[in-house]
Amino acid sequence: MKTIRKVAVIGAGTMGAGIAGQVANAGIEVWLLDLPSEGEHVNAVAQRGLERLQNPDSPGLMSDTATHHIKIGNIRDHLHQLADCDWIAEAVVERLPVKQQLYQRLDKICRADAIITSNTSTIPIRLLTEGMTSSFCERFAITHFFNPVRFMRLLELVRGEHTTDVVMDTLDAFCEQQLGKGVVRCADTPGFLGNRVGVYAIQCALHTAFTMGLSPAEADALFGRPMGIPKTGVFGLYDLIGIDLMADVVHSLVNILPTNDPFHQVAQPIDLMTRMIANGQTGNKNGQGFYRELEDQRQMLDLVTEQYNQIERLNLPLAEKAEKLGLSVLLDDPGPYGQFAWEVLSRTLCYAAELVPEVSDDPVPIDDAMKLGYNWVYGPFEMLDQIGLDRFVNRLKKEGRDVPDFLSKIKGKRFYQAATNTLKSLSYSGQHCPIMRPDGLIRFSELRQTLQSQNSNAMASWFEFEGAAIVEFHSKANALDGNSMSILADALAQSQQRGLRGIIVHNDAQHFSCGVNLSAVRGFFESDDYAGLDHFLNHFQQVVLSMRTCSLPVIVAPVGLSIGGGFEVVLHADKVICQANSVMGLVESLVGVVPGGGGIKETLHRWFANTGDMEKATWKSFMNLGYGRTATSPILALEQAMLRDTDQFLMNRDRLLSKALNELDRTTKAASRESLSLVGKPVFTSMYNWLQTKADQGKLMPHDVIVGSAIARVITGGDCSIGTMASEQDLFDAERQAFLTLVKTPATQARIISMLDTSKSLRN
Ligand code: NAI
Repeated sequence: MKTIRKVAVIGAGTMGAGIAGQVANAGIEVWLLDLPSEGEHVNAVAQRGLERLQNPDSPGLMSDTATHHIKIGNIRDHLHQLADCDWIAEAVVERLPVKQQLYQRLDKICRADAIITSNTSTIPIRLLTEGMTSSFCERFAITHFFNPVRFMRLLELVRGEHTTDVVMDTLDAFCEQQLGKGVVRCADTPGFLGNRVGVYAIQCALHTAFTMGLSPAEADALFGRPMGIPKTGVFGLYDLIGIDLMADVVHSLVNILPTNDPFHQVAQPIDLMTRMIANGQTGNKNGQGFYRELEDQRQMLDLVTEQYNQIERLNLPLAEKAEKLGLSVLLDDPGPYGQFAWEVLSRTLCYAAELVPEVSDDPVPIDDAMKLGYNWVYGPFEMLDQIGLDRFVNRLKKEGRDVPDFLSKIKGKRFYQAATNTLKSLSYSGQHCPIMRPDGLIRFSELRQTLQSQNSNAMASWFEFEGAAIVEFHSKANALDGNSMSILADALAQSQQRGLRGIIVHNDAQHFSCGVNLSAVRGFFESDDYAGLDHFLNHFQQVVLSMRTCSLPVIVAPVGLSIGGGFEVVLHADKVICQANSVMGLVESLVGVVPGGGGIKETLHRWFANTGDMEKATWKSFMNLGYGRTATSPILALEQAMLRDTDQFLMNRDRLLSKALNELDRTTKAASRESLSLVGKPVFTSMYNWLQTKADQGKLMPHDVIVGSAIARVITGGDCSIGTMASEQDLFDAERQAFLTLVKTPATQARIISMLDTSKSLRN
């Protein structure tokens, strides 16, 4: 295998800039080249690519440091810079002659062993490398990234007829370990795997919704969460990607797929959508598509009248039931919603099964592609296991439909089978073989199937693996309640009794935890049960405290969002090993409360440890907590005192668990918290005045002042004199008191209800 130390990306559009950004995030020098521009700013196109990466709304770069790794240029003046690059990734427009001309130039300039790849979505390697020297073909492959590159996990790695093992292994290891991608090796077949199945599925859902007369909201509620598919469903996803761009993607698949491919049955343009593109209703980028957001309401396009109407809250108990009880509930329903679900899913699953063995010999790459590239919770074959293959096949037969060869051949078997510490998958030959992952790569969603839980409830479970306890949250969005915390408490207590090596809190969901379950909080205030709420908060605090007081090391290994209560769990770890795209912070003020699970306490302690100055620490804490700030990368989290320099991050989330297992024995317990000397009344008064001034200037809402004052009171001690000492428990008590006071106010209750019912933070 070779080492990649210097990279060039050619084409600084959506994908090229994204790839360069991710290489820079990995700390590697990268040239980003595009065409030269007329006039003074000869590198204007590459410069714009770099600027898009710096957009704070979707940051392609993890920090300013990453920016320094990117050098911009153009292919007229800077091509010679590629002479010492180890990997050149081409991401120019999808036009064969443009790509071929570029390869001719690269062949002359690049080192004889430099690896060259294309990001093409549709052009086979055979055509890309037509007429190129054999030494070029040996070091050429396709690296098909997904947009946005920093956040989408899938990388499809495609081998040409002449590509060497060294090239494939080097790209595989580099993209997996340094760029953090889930690498799926694919055959050079049209659309590879992700888009082949994914675009079929969404086209199928789209056409079926139109044929059956379902509204966008109905279709998205069904072809969404109940199937383990992101809630954007089909129409929301069209709006997100762009209705015009999706039309191009469909068009290109139509051109490359064989004429007998079932994709053609779901690929015909829909008149309404052609009109929408002409009218500029192309989706989120233009502010309107199937949905649109007005200032005070969300609207949806009526597919018959072509008018936008306000979306009423959709009451779809079937979808909610299926989300809780499983897919079969939805598919077995005889009504139109059940029929829609069956029609879309059965066709999609059959389409995926038809790809075996021609496109893939076993189900794992297809399932991986859908989970990593389309964020499905389950791949098509995992869904078939849930439904039951015999039931699925019998229903197809009853309806007189063809049964894919692979499904008839293996009847009665499951695609996945768990054995001790190994998950096996069924290949076309009918054998169950262990799923092979690179050393150190553990996907907990797979591992957990092979383990017996030691204690479990609907919200969380804990397992024993390699002498450690692994605690997994698994509720919706991993919202935390008393049950989640009881499992954590049990794992901490039992691990000490059994003499385990330590405790790791980790899960393989998209997000580690979105915080305390707000519905539970709403339940408390709607039933006036404030004593119950106090008891819940106290329990939460004591469990996170026992992460510290427990004699064993506790590592938290989060991915995605760790916010609110989820971040309070992170804050009490002895060590954090997180993924590079982790987003962390205490956002409670946005829903009108304060962190009540040790978040204020920890924020204050950490800023004091960082600054050594209590007044500075108090102001820093006030700003972070008051504005509900989040850090969008571990590097930024370190700057905000949310992480410590002993915490670590990795690019690939699938390596967190094995890293945490390795680190347990070298993790020392975090020191217990000494009392803090509070800054008292003078700073509290300054903070209060600051809030009032901001409110007078119209920069804060009236309830922001109330919430901000509550935070100020906890961190300064309020009316107390300067130097009053506050123990860990004093701060816990103050947090709970502030939380309870706020939650009794109608304004906080309105914020919580708004968040739960509309997913919007109310500004009141
Ligand atoms: P884009 O249109 O955003 O960017 C293409 C860039 O290539 C432009 O900046 C253009 O100025 C530049 N360019 C054109 N000719 C060039 C040349 N001779 N030398 C240097 N630069 C040149 O396109 P996008 O979306 O970034 O796509 C790039 C490649 O990635 C295509 O092959 C596409 O099929 C593929 N792809 C696109 C995905 C997407 O979601 N947009 C996803 C996966 C693959």
